[in-house]
Amino acid sequence: MKTTKPDRRAGFVISSLFFIIFLCALASINEVRFDNLLNFGRCPLPYSPSQFHNSSAISILSNTSLADDDHYQNSSSGDIRILIGILTLPDQYHRRHFLRMIYGTQSPVGAKVDVKFVFCNLTKEDQKVLVALEIMRYDDIIILNCKENMNQGKTYTYFSSLPEMLIDNDDENADDRKKLYPPYHYVLKGDDDVYFRLQSLVDSLIPLPREDLYYGYVIPCPSMDPFVHYMSGMGYLISWDIVEWIRESDIPKKHLEGPEDKVFGEWLREGHRAKNRYNAKWSMYNFPEPPTRCTHELWPDTIAVHLLKNQEKWIQTLKYFNVTDNLKPSKLYHIP
Ligand SMILES: *[C@@H]1O[C@H](CO)[C@@H](O)[C@H](O)[C@H]1NC(C)=O
Ligand SMILES: *[C@@H]1O[C@H](CO)[C@@H](O)[C@H](O)[C@H]1NC(C)=O
Ligand SMILES: *[C@@H]1O[C@H](CO)[C@@H](O)[C@H](O)[C@H]1NC(C)=O
Ligand SMILES: *[C@@H]1O[C@H](CO)[C@@H](O)[C@H](O)[C@H]1NC(C)=O
Repeated sequence: MKTTKPDRRAGFVISSLFFIIFLCALASINEVRFDNLLNFGRCPLPYSPSQFHNSSAISILSNTSLADDDHYQNSSSGDIRILIGILTLPDQYHRRHFLRMIYGTQSPVGAKVDVKFVFCNLTKEDQKVLVALEIMRYDDIIILNCKENMNQGKTYTYFSSLPEMLIDNDDENADDRKKLYPPYHYVLKGDDDVYFRLQSLVDSLIPLPREDLYYGYVIPCPSMDPFVHYMSGMGYLISWDIVEWIRESDIPKKHLEGPEDKVFGEWLREGHRAKNRYNAKWSMYNFPEPPTRCTHELWPDTIAVHLLKNQEKWIQTLKYFNVTDNLKPSKLYHIP
């Protein structure tokens, strides 16, 4: 049987169309793989904290990455997961509002960074409404089971509560985030008078080990040796295995009182933990005024500035780092 000319032409158009769709599909698959390759190039150990940087290429095509991409805006499975817990007080509403702007306007590449505010039990009636509203709106608050204190174990409660809060193996319906292990590669404890520059923080972490790590600004101020003695409470970071060790070990439990950062260093010494240490001095430092042995002038190579005790110091710091340069132009406003 003979097909007519128009029929044949239609057949040709349709098969061409299919061929083009097939090519597009192929191209997009390759693009996904290529993206993954790029990400893994940045930090090749998404799920295996026990290995170091020479992990094999097999994981590159692992399919778990796609689901995770859905979950984390703008981050992929190759990214480091970092929890920044800022220890503060329930009544510090304005501080939290301000810090949400500071961190909400940073979008670091190569990591998924969660910033959360951490405090102990609420004590006032109005807090029950206001903090609940904040959680409904921002979902960035951790309320520990403790009574507010600075040097009687709040830091211990913070770290030791995290495994139970963040890991949920039993619940079938737990969201994907809870199924990731470790839930965070690194956990940071920070103060609420510190400005963290998240991209610099992430860039400094990418080459570091994912295990047995203790990172921060070493005290005493003139010391550059991360083993002498401990990291300043302005902001120190540990790998997830140390978080679990704090939960399980008897060493921290027996020794809760005292300056929290110093006590923290003593746990690690006594427990022979944190073989890997990183001194982020002078990328972390105290605000230049008033000058002490712990201060440094503002300079481009900055991860954190501490002791931002008033608005003037914050403004000076934010101006120095040009944080509003990316404001998009609009007819709706004009800022000289
Ligand atoms: C894809 O993911 C599923 C579930 O995570 C896993 O069981 C399966 O082995 C994976 N397949 C490949 C090819 O990685
Ligand atoms: C995601 O990343 C792209 C480019 O890296 C950027 O343009 C975009 O603003 C980011 N989106 C969010 C929500 O951060
Ligand atoms: C904190 O609050 C919880 C729940 O309201 C309560 O069970 C717990 O005993 C309180 N803890 C402290 C230390 O007050
Ligand atoms: C801020 O912007 C100015 C002017 O463009 C530039 O000279 C300066 O290096 C920038 N500062 C930092 C810390 O990037």
